[in-house]
Amino acid sequence: MDLQPIGRGFGCEVFGLSVPLVESEFARIRQAWFDHSFLVFRDLRMSPEQHVAFTRRFGALHIMEREFKLPDHPEVMVIANEERDGKPFGSRRVGLGWHSDGEDKRIPNAGSFLHGITIPPEGGDTLFADMYAAYEALPERLRRAIQGRRARFSRIDMHHVHYPDLPALTEAEKRDRPDVFHPLVRLHPHTSRRSLYVGRWARDIEGLPPDEGRALIEELFTFAQSEAFTYRHRWRRYDAVLWDNRCMLHRAMGFDEERYVRHMRRTTIEGDIPLMAPPE
Ligand code: SIN
Repeated sequence: MDLQPIGRGFGCEVFGLSVPLVESEFARIRQAWFDHSFLVFRDLRMSPEQHVAFTRRFGALHIMEREFKLPDHPEVMVIANEERDGKPFGSRRVGLGWHSDGEDKRIPNAGSFLHGITIPPEGGDTLFADMYAAYEALPERLRRAIQGRRARFSRIDMHHVHYPDLPALTEAEKRDRPDVFHPLVRLHPHTSRRSLYVGRWARDIEGLPPDEGRALIEELFTFAQSEAFTYRHRWRRYDAVLWDNRCMLHRAMGFDEERYVRHMRRTTIEGDIPLMAPPE
């Protein structure tokens, strides 16, 4: 197995790995995941069973609620514009804005593992952004403004904005997905590094007037997307990417859905309550 950093200060490519992992490989991969925040495995041929088994080594798996899942593998979410028997076979356009998985839940997801099954010849890339680097580069004024503060993340406010193609939330779903508050400066439980924690579900800031909080969120969110912190992953068939939602944002890019098929499968690792970083 060969690990090669991608040269953006985060991210690493992994060559020569096959599943199932032996224990020594797993220990190396897990450490590399903490050190580099996301790992790209090239030409990793995995069945859904192997995909699930690989990800389970990192923790319990999350089963998505509304999204499409593989019929015999509820842990595997399908993101695809395909139809089978005249019915949609995957969730479409779910990852189009910058986010980290589960940021709108009390316990967001620790990690996600996305496998490229059918890749369009153009478009459909995924962007990743390093939120350790974003925090470290924040101007002093912004660092001071967010120290010790929490943002409000709201599925209820933003569902129709981010998922215009999906049915509106039911009253029961709204009760299940109440607004949550997370620290804007998050301490990673394994690396003890600080990262900027914002995303597309963040709305405003606890303790600040809504307009002021919203303006600050916008400023932070725009800053987090700066090219300096981002990497664009151009998918090849059977690439698999494992990322750490505690210190990264990601977003899918569109593609010509009339001409091409894009079929991705994702497993999602349960996480922990975000830790507020102590003052520096
Ligand atoms: C996601 O947001 O997890 C999916 C990203 C993608 O489809 O590229």
